[in-house]
Amino acid sequence: MPNPSTRPSGPHKHHPATLAFQTQAVHCGNQADASTGAIRTPIIMANSYNLPEDPFTLDPDNPDLLVYTRESGANQLALQTKLATLEGGEDAVVLGSGVAALHAVFFTHLRAGDHVIVFDVTYSAVWRLFAELLPVKSGIEATFVDVTDLDAVRAAMRPTTRIIHTEVIANPTAKTADIHALADIAHAAGALLTVDSTCTPPPLFRPLEHGADLVVHSLTKYINGHGDAMGGAVIGPRELILPIKTEAMINVGGAISPFNAWLISRGSITLPLRLRQHLAGAERVAEFLDSHPRVLHVAYPGLPSHPQHELVKRQFDGQGFGALVAFALDADHDTRNAFVNSLRLITSAVSLGHDETLIVYEDTHADRAAMFPEVFRTHGLLRLAVGLEDPDDLIADLAAALDRTVPVH
Ligand SMILES: Cc1ncc(COP(=O)(O)O)c(C=O)c1O
Repeated sequence: MPNPSTRPSGPHKHHPATLAFQTQAVHCGNQADASTGAIRTPIIMANSYNLPEDPFTLDPDNPDLLVYTRESGANQLALQTKLATLEGGEDAVVLGSGVAALHAVFFTHLRAGDHVIVFDVTYSAVWRLFAELLPVKSGIEATFVDVTDLDAVRAAMRPTTRIIHTEVIANPTAKTADIHALADIAHAAGALLTVDSTCTPPPLFRPLEHGADLVVHSLTKYINGHGDAMGGAVIGPRELILPIKTEAMINVGGAISPFNAWLISRGSITLPLRLRQHLAGAERVAEFLDSHPRVLHVAYPGLPSHPQHELVKRQFDGQGFGALVAFALDADHDTRNAFVNSLRLITSAVSLGHDETLIVYEDTHADRAAMFPEVFRTHGLLRLAVGLEDPDDLIADLAAALDRTVPVH
């Protein structure tokens, strides 16, 4: 049998971009196994692949050759092929977690003296990278900006600004960035727009089509969708992805396990079907909470009261508003805990995008509390990551727990 490392990269069936998203989600990245005839790509749990008779014939600039699993493996390649297609990008790199993918972008595309603009309600690990770690360890400067205020973004730009980094709908405050407008500001200054689209996976939104240069996903969330594997990905043009592979993936590590890459490939087959249910369920749950007399505030872009309701509708072509619902209860700290512990169906656990609905009673991060609306600072923040259950069952669970712990007088 020919040594696989002598084959060109991406040994997976080519599927035209004209196929519908749902069809791509089923077929892309899967390849029948030549040695057994199995019609699914097998899990290749191997650290190393046979070298060719003359290893010097290997192209050192091609990180997609099958040599060593920290650089590339059959299951990583399959997942990369699939994610590039689903996000409409030229290439992708997959790593062991969403944070590994985020760090890989910054490690590769920033250097000492560079400046970054970061959404002020960014995911907590990114916030800490830029607030504490990268400035000290790598000489990178960051300004945290409310990117919903485009004038504030323009004012924060410096000659050394290399990246504007944002989420689409920020977790957990539901503040929403206008990706097109931010791309224009970044590109006018010769900077990149990097977008963490974990909470807005395709087909809901594809940031590259709106001007983003790189898209990052925590695959741990909706793309895998079953709460049983961690992974991260960066997707974009080859000229920006290749250095992430040759620098961050190879020299920093953080490789994904082949088993997790396989699980995520499998989970992503049903992404469009699951996403529809996540979005529909979240809308129903948000409406219920918004109408409940003991709920003080609901942060969910699908509610007309959300300051960016119209932007979100436009940006996502009316497909939905995400599946995270943050809310504040008219209750003290112990009662909020009692409410969460009184839920029978909804599970108290971090993470999102799982099949089951999860709730977290979150700290509003004392060090950056000012970024959170006043009501969350004074009354705590409960975040629901709405899953795939029938929304009537979720609403019944929430209603019963509210009645038991925060009764309406
Ligand atoms: C928006 C967002 N980005 C990145 C991450 C990090 O992903 P991971 O836990 O896979 O490292 C998370 C995790 O919650 C997230 O919510």
